[in-house]
Amino acid sequence: MLPIADGPMADVRDMYMAHTAMRREFTLLPGLVSDVTPGDVRRAEVVGAHAELMCRVLHLHHEGEDHVLWPKLLDRGGEETAAIVPAMEEQHHAIEKAHARVTALLPGWRATGRGGAELAEVLDRLLAVLLEHMRMEEKEILPLAEKYVTAAEWGQLGEHGLAKTPKKELPLVFGVMMYEGDPEVIETVLAEAPGPVRLLVPVLGRRLYARHARRVHGTATPPRVGT
Ligand SMILES: [Fe+2]
Repeated sequence: MLPIADGPMADVRDMYMAHTAMRREFTLLPGLVSDVTPGDVRRAEVVGAHAELMCRVLHLHHEGEDHVLWPKLLDRGGEETAAIVPAMEEQHHAIEKAHARVTALLPGWRATGRGGAELAEVLDRLLAVLLEHMRMEEKEILPLAEKYVTAAEWGQLGEHGLAKTPKKELPLVFGVMMYEGDPEVIETVLAEAPGPVRLLVPVLGRRLYARHARRVHGTATPPRVGT
């Protein structure tokens, strides 16, 4: 077992922020897809591009947890984490399976506007496993992360997503996350970023998400799911 390094422990509030954003967008997705008139390629492209973006955000989020979080918890938490981490990994597999199905169906639907019913059904399935997973992660895993993972290590989760997201997409992704985010948490997430990024990204992110949401959801203020 590796000793836990000195220093502050993980501040996990950014995980709640990311989960809230995914809850909101994945909850709205099946309906968005079903509402597209078969053959309406233009609308399918708008909704499809959004679905693809959110699938990428989800995939990176879980990839980060697989690489950074589970190994540390298993290594340090003894019985406490051995009881729960395998269940989380299993849920990730189930989510990955539904996610792979969605990403396989997406290009065809975007190109033709046909096959939306099947895509909406798979998105529904993905939503069900994702919601249960995030609920369990918040209840069981986040308290363990606060106990066994340092703030510096926790930061690697965000860095993983940052490194793998195309730079030009980052402000919008940040806007998706920030929409229901607590200003204090947003400030903490950006604390390490260079000055201009810290000032610009919140303003740009909000503006980009409002524009994106108007196109995708028909409103700059889609229904909130957070507390
Ligand atoms: Fe998570």
